[in-house]
Amino acid sequence: MKKDKKRYRSQEWFDAADDKTAFIHRSWLRNQGLPNDQFDGRPVIGICNTWSELTPCNAHLREFAEHVKKGVLEAGGYPLEFPVMSMGESLMRPTAMLFRNLGSMDTEESIRANPLDGIVLLTGCDKTTPATVMGAASVDLPTIVVPGGPMLNGKYKGERIGSGTFLWNIKDKVSNEGYTKDDLMEAEGCSARSDGHCMTMGTASTMACMVESLGLTLPGAAAIPAVDSRKKLLARNSGRRIVEMVKEDLTISKILTKKAFENAIKINAAIGGSTNFIIHLKAIAGRVGVDLDLKEFDSLGSNIPLLVNLMPSGKFLMEDFFDAGGLPVVIKTMKEHLHNDAITVNGNQIGENNDRAACYNEEVIAQVNKPFKEASGIAVLYGNLCENGAIIKPSAATPELMVHRGRAIVFETVEDYHTQVDDPDLDIDENSVIVLKGAGPVGYPGMPEVANVDLPEKILKKGIKDMVRISDGRMSGTAFGTVILHVSPESAVGGTLAVVETGDMIELNVPERRLHLDISEEELIKRKAAWTPSEPALKRGYVKMYTDHVQQAHLGADLNFLNGKSGSGIPRDSH
Ligand code: FES
Ligand code: MG
Repeated sequence: MKKDKKRYRSQEWFDAADDKTAFIHRSWLRNQGLPNDQFDGRPVIGICNTWSELTPCNAHLREFAEHVKKGVLEAGGYPLEFPVMSMGESLMRPTAMLFRNLGSMDTEESIRANPLDGIVLLTGCDKTTPATVMGAASVDLPTIVVPGGPMLNGKYKGERIGSGTFLWNIKDKVSNEGYTKDDLMEAEGCSARSDGHCMTMGTASTMACMVESLGLTLPGAAAIPAVDSRKKLLARNSGRRIVEMVKEDLTISKILTKKAFENAIKINAAIGGSTNFIIHLKAIAGRVGVDLDLKEFDSLGSNIPLLVNLMPSGKFLMEDFFDAGGLPVVIKTMKEHLHNDAITVNGNQIGENNDRAACYNEEVIAQVNKPFKEASGIAVLYGNLCENGAIIKPSAATPELMVHRGRAIVFETVEDYHTQVDDPDLDIDENSVIVLKGAGPVGYPGMPEVANVDLPEKILKKGIKDMVRISDGRMSGTAFGTVILHVSPESAVGGTLAVVETGDMIELNVPERRLHLDISEEELIKRKAAWTPSEPALKRGYVKMYTDHVQQAHLGADLNFLNGKSGSGIPRDSH
């Protein structure tokens, strides 16, 4: 007797037309001690786990999967957990970003090749969220995300220390505040005191808020700390819900609409989210075929008030955000700006889901008429130095530097920068513009988070804390400063950035959205004609495929042949 009238995808395996094929697909699973009814046509739920000890931010997700399984079983589904490539931000070299697209391919193909009807994505560290969402979107089954949650607040010497954000101050702490090696060693443990991902509004928290804003999680999911019992409850409820989503055929493409993307851009601005959001959201939009131009991040987001006072833009951390009411408060507060009728995974509209949210701490989440900053989103710059765009996060930058003209000090690679930056003879002052080349998707390869280079020691010693910096790389979501990122086209493919020379004058005008290299048109043409590309980093393997096919930053840095989806059709027989 079939439990449901609908015939799900998994039945093409378990109730295959011929006995031999069905025997193969069922028999080996029996070694897990399964009764017959697991194959009776109930929804089969894949729990896609990015657990890895090499991704400490996701190290607790094995346990989480058990809570999801309980929920799936309670709702009458059949759960099957599987691992996919996990991209750990803190250990992977040259950068976890190099592997985001590979992780997405792993997710996509693992789902499609197997007898699965619905998907739960267990994510945490920065790249694990976009990678798995991109992969799942290219299959387009019902999908729900369970973000693993932030670590508890970091505390050291009585102060909050944010993961990542503290890191960018270390050079200054040692130079100016007398921090010793022992201090730093102790601070390491204090900034990572529980399971979970970075607890600043860095990229991991931004990604968790992104999936909640897109409607891919149950309401309130993003801010729950990893070790809070309510996170386990979220996992269990998500397990229950995905079974229903399969019955309702609520596929991911029904949730990832243009309205959902627009909501996500505005909410990201209100929370002071990471600049990496742009690249990941663009890549996800590319998978579901939603048209999203880089300019829309500016037109939709840049005038949104900053409502959340979290590092790196502010002073609190994710645990404070959760205690203050979390993302539901922001969504409710922002309702004038949002498409409140966007559908979410629980089948309800985002507006009704968050209608009853209450703010418990206005120092952490502001009212819309008393924001922490009037305008907080990302500004997209254009000019001869970035014909396809570059970005800056004004809320993390110095207001006085928003209009600036300075002399370029060029570093061809990040290694060049490291060897030269603290040379006392380096001809640089606080008005100079630091230009870092070779950090784009093709050039590094992988587009690492190196763009927020430290200031030279001799400038820090003067008490100066910020300078204009320009790069084709990315910046950690936990970082801050007047840093122009994602310059496109990048230097390695011959963008104007490639031909900037030390001594050139550069003009930045954020209010006018302009980034200009002040040399004559003839000189620019002459320099570009003389430019030759460097040898590729590797001529084989994944890195070769990546550098041959990666798109520029303004397109989301996905591989060009991964745009769109191949759907959830049943592959041909294996035996
Ligand atoms: Fe994993 Fe920050 S290093 S979230
Ligand atoms: Mg990061």
